[in-house]
Amino acid sequence: MAVLAPPSGPGVLSVRNLVTVYPGRDGEVVAVDDVSFELSPGEVLGIVGDSGSGKTTLARSLLGLVSTPGRIIGGEIKLHGRDLLKLSHKEMRKVRGREIGMIFQNPIRSFHPGFTIGWQLVEAATQHANISRREATEKVVEALTWVGMPEPAERINDYPHQFSGGMLQRVMIAMSLLNEPAVLIADEPTTALDVTIQAQILELIERLAVDRGMGVVLVTHNLGMVASLCDRVIVMYAGQIVEEAPVETVFHTPAHPYTRGLLDSQPDRSTGKRLTELRGASPQMTELPSGCRFQNRCDYVEEKCTEPPALADLSHGQKVRCWISQRHGLLPTRLADSDHRDRAESTGLSGK
Ligand SMILES: Nc1ncnc2c1ncn2[C@@H]1O[C@H](COP(=O)(O)OP(=O)(O)O)[C@@H](O)[C@H]1O
Ligand SMILES: [Mg+2]
Repeated sequence: MAVLAPPSGPGVLSVRNLVTVYPGRDGEVVAVDDVSFELSPGEVLGIVGDSGSGKTTLARSLLGLVSTPGRIIGGEIKLHGRDLLKLSHKEMRKVRGREIGMIFQNPIRSFHPGFTIGWQLVEAATQHANISRREATEKVVEALTWVGMPEPAERINDYPHQFSGGMLQRVMIAMSLLNEPAVLIADEPTTALDVTIQAQILELIERLAVDRGMGVVLVTHNLGMVASLCDRVIVMYAGQIVEEAPVETVFHTPAHPYTRGLLDSQPDRSTGKRLTELRGASPQMTELPSGCRFQNRCDYVEEKCTEPPALADLSHGQKVRCWISQRHGLLPTRLADSDHRDRAESTGLSGK
């Protein structure tokens, strides 16, 4: 792994064997099941997967914000070597905002409707740093300028509802800038926004990583976004990591049949056509099959797949939870493989 991480130093965030569960009447849902990964400074790590695969639960676990009745029952989340799971609620509140920033899908929900944007940002800036409100206001205006807000010194007097969704997402990014956190967690940050605005927000997120060295965890179901922004990708399925690899590897030689299915079911950028649809649906989290969780949807399924595969290293930083790929060192060729090359070309990743 270290070989492939950007040459910016050791991991800032290190997650080991994280398990987060929701108790329920039909049984316990293990929404995050033994998840481990590293994040380097300046790296954008994409988390992709179907709806219900545990992406949001993972993102919220990192922030100590799992929704009730969920709770983390095992593992470690180390930020600069300190295990966040050992902190009190009060200590964790300090970590959020100061050391780990966050942006979510609906920015309007992250603000109080009754206070001006300026007041809320100044509050955030003074909470974690020993500065006057005047200094904080200057900092806020500077951050709003950085995210491209026109006339920031005037607009700090406006209330959240007076901003568009895209503008509010910029304000969220400005807020996460105030304390220069080492890590930013972004859960579907552009899903609620227009396409043109999406691109602008993504560019800002990229600049946070590239210009300011933040490690970014970007949860998205948009593979185009992954291709353009991420350095590395984690693919989740039914609570587990099923594949992890550098972004080019994932697009060129996906090793998990689910990853391949996901890529093939993306509409082609030029023709709008999908190569194939993934058949079937994700399993109910309370009724998981024993063995590989993808087996009932898999084109490669064999007898061995009734045993649970571990996440194992292939090569070049690629990891996969699949018996077949592990045996062959990759996913065997199929008829559709020429299509597969076309896809790499259409995502603009070929030849990289
Ligand atoms: N507040 C909650 N209470 C109970 N179960 C939940 C809650 N939030 C999520 N889950 C369950 O956890 C699993 C993962 O959900 P989630 O993390 O939201 O996935 P994703 O973000 O990938 O769509 C799903 O099975 C979902 O039903
Ligand atoms: Mg989600």
